[in-house]
Amino acid sequence: MISNQERVDSGHGYLPQTIPGRSPNQELLPLTAKVNSRDCLEIGGCDVTTLVERFGSPLYVLDEVTLRTACKQYREAFARYYPGVALPIYASKAWSCLAVCSIIASEGFGFDVVSGGELYTTLQAGVKGDLIYCHGNNKSAAELELAIAHGCKIIVDNWLELEMLTKLADELSSKPIPIMLRLTPGIECHTHEYIRTGHLDSKFGFDPDGIKEVFAFVLRQANLDCIGLHAHIGSQIFEEQPHEDLAGVMVEWMKQAVDCGLKMRELNLGGGLGIRYTEADDPPSIDEWVKTVSTATIEACNRLGMSLPKLIVEPGRSLIGSACVTAYTVGFRKVVPGIRTYISVDGGMSDNPRPITYQSVYGAAIANRMSAPMVERVTVAGKHCESGDIVIKNALLPETEQGDILVVMATGAYNYSMASNYNRISRPAAILVHEGEANLIIQRETYQDLIRQDCLPTRLTPKLC
Ligand code: LLP
Repeated sequence: MISNQERVDSGHGYLPQTIPGRSPNQELLPLTAKVNSRDCLEIGGCDVTTLVERFGSPLYVLDEVTLRTACKQYREAFARYYPGVALPIYASKAWSCLAVCSIIASEGFGFDVVSGGELYTTLQAGVKGDLIYCHGNNKSAAELELAIAHGCKIIVDNWLELEMLTKLADELSSKPIPIMLRLTPGIECHTHEYIRTGHLDSKFGFDPDGIKEVFAFVLRQANLDCIGLHAHIGSQIFEEQPHEDLAGVMVEWMKQAVDCGLKMRELNLGGGLGIRYTEADDPPSIDEWVKTVSTATIEACNRLGMSLPKLIVEPGRSLIGSACVTAYTVGFRKVVPGIRTYISVDGGMSDNPRPITYQSVYGAAIANRMSAPMVERVTVAGKHCESGDIVIKNALLPETEQGDILVVMATGAYNYSMASNYNRISRPAAILVHEGEANLIIQRETYQDLIRQDCLPTRLTPKLC
């Protein structure tokens, strides 16, 4: 591993190095990243600086090969380690749009959606309802109705939802509605540590202490088919032990359900595998992670005399995080003597709210001078009217000048999906790159788009003289 310091001393710029056998979630840049003869960053066979000339900046550049490779690695790992049926489903909250959903659907994945909007997007991408699992701790009646109409599986979060569903099932469905029950397993994960507690302060899911009552209620509802249990313990997790523990306790609860008379056959262990945002991050590979959850599930089933359930996992970040970079154009440089040098870019917290929200750390490169030596530490600032709008604090970069194209790595997960129009800044375009071809998958918002939903009462209409 080359640390930032070594990169300075060796005088090299940022030269992406993909190590064969590693998973996309262990890479900083998309798998197809290389430096071309113009010393520019190329992704998916497209020169990023040319993409910016053509499509403007900021620009999300999404690499199809990286996304498909991550999907394939999940699929192949399940084939290797889990003898029963397994279904990875994409946590579409990471990035929901038609193109992303349709690529992932074509890789044989199901979908996790958390709102009517995500459900609608997934359906519009051509995904069949029986491959869609609907989440949410406060689903509206309209969301439940849409899910039922399309034969989706509903992951029930709480008592109110159970009661709403029993009523809706009678009105709307001729056959029992497939549901799963979400539990709060008492395994709490922070990025680099986890705690196991008896009960957890979480807004999601049923408390396992009262689960027998839930099982008994569900058993009495002929219009609900309770197919399994679900839990999700957190995101950007590098440790494997929490998921191993999770599989163990979930199989125990499934056994209790089966003993109560429920015909449970699916076990959903959520998502959470982390990705590399900087050289300091060292997540396990997709293969290792799948091996851990598969082995733990098999062991628990053997121990408790249970047949293997259909095993479901819900990766979001580890599928799409490393497949995308965001390209910005560098503007003003401000030197605060003895304190800090700022360089400003033409985006920031509206296209990537993660640094200001979670203090997330990212890596960057200068796409038009990839081999230039990393000589200075600068703070990359966004253009929003907010002092905290910092993209990267103390980034190690080559000397930069106005007009340079600065690329922030690993922005595929929870960037576009959490983007806003703060300061009435248009959300960027997104481009899918593949074998030298660049396709627009999300149009850049225009000023007209920004006022599209505004309504002006007639009495306020400006009088033009
Ligand atoms: N399943 C459930 C029920 C979830 O709540 C989540 C993420 C996932 C799956 C996918 O987890 P992943 O594989 O992506 O770790 N906005 C935050 C992340 C929030 C994650 C919420 N739930 C961020 O930008 O870091």
